[in-house]
Amino acid sequence: MASLRIGLVGCGGIGGVHARSWAQVEGADVVAACDVDLERASATAPRAFSHWDEMLAEVDLDAVDICTPPHLHAPAALAAIKAGKPVLCEKPLARNPAEARRIFDAAAEAGSLLVTAFCHRFHPPVEWVKSQIDAGSLGRILMFRNRFGTRFKGVEDKWFSNPEIAGGGALMDTSIHSVDLFRFLVGEVETASALTSTFSPNILGLEDSAAMLLRAESGAIGVIEASWMTPCSANVVEIYGELGAAVIDYDTGVTRVRHDGDSDWTAMPGDDRSRFVEELRHFASVLRGETAPRMTGHDGLRAVEVLYQAYGKA
Ligand SMILES: NC(=O)c1ccc[n+]([C@@H]2O[C@H](COP(=O)([O-])OP(=O)(O)OC[C@H]3O[C@@H](n4cnc5c(N)ncnc54)[C@H](O)[C@@H]3O)[C@@H](O)[C@H]2O)c1
Repeated sequence: MASLRIGLVGCGGIGGVHARSWAQVEGADVVAACDVDLERASATAPRAFSHWDEMLAEVDLDAVDICTPPHLHAPAALAAIKAGKPVLCEKPLARNPAEARRIFDAAAEAGSLLVTAFCHRFHPPVEWVKSQIDAGSLGRILMFRNRFGTRFKGVEDKWFSNPEIAGGGALMDTSIHSVDLFRFLVGEVETASALTSTFSPNILGLEDSAAMLLRAESGAIGVIEASWMTPCSANVVEIYGELGAAVIDYDTGVTRVRHDGDSDWTAMPGDDRSRFVEELRHFASVLRGETAPRMTGHDGLRAVEVLYQAYGKA
């Protein structure tokens, strides 16, 4: 079978991660890349372009992988969909629900594959906990707790703190992963609310820290925290069910479950597969028609809608 021909849009931080991860996926090659910084595109793929329109016109691609800042997700995705190409798009799918809906509707109308790059669904510990939940070993899930935090040095000078480009702050950038994890592990969100703060005096118009509350349609409740201003932060997901609990510690790499009556926790067997490689391997197998997508454009749209409800803008 011929190798899948991938076109990468945006060759910065995560674009580089994707390029290196694609190199580990059997039967797929990044044959073209585009970036306003043409040198970056040239360093990434044999054919380099400074605009996605040129790349789409000149190279025969099987799919487009979008890794630009969020304000460019909609124009790049709409161009790729118009050119008849399946799209993998980094999170957030777009800066707001209206923009995300435009991408979602265009893909649906064209009958085109649209996948949102929620890499945590491929983190082996998340997969392991998901399999425990699906097997009923934790019983009915009642509560979810998650914190992703860091001291994001220099964020004040990056696009992340520009509302026009990013669409939101720590909630939009970081908690979007958490909302997707909640939907993946617990279920669809019924309501969401948040308190946000901007502790940095040099960030205007968006939050650098947030605490969010969610209720699932099942009745389960969740707490999500995110911050760009907290060094030494924990990065952890905790799931509490009627029959037991699971804890995924991203910092130590230890994942453990415990059932009511157990004398101790049971650790997950070691599994150091990269969530990025696994995400792209999965996308490649979706492109080959071997499997259904684990997450779609609808998941990308829902995550942005939930954040908008939390912001009080919905
Ligand atoms: N899944 C994850 O864990 C994860 C991690 C980091 C970033 N992201 C997401 O990936 C996206 C990119 O983030 P990043 O950290 O790589 O940003 P970045 O600034 O490091 O890289 C963005 C790249 O896009 C390029 N670019 C800008 N305008 C362009 C245009 N018009 N056409 C083509 N290329 C253009 C820039 O030159 C740069 O190389 C964001 O949506 C971000 O939220 C996801």
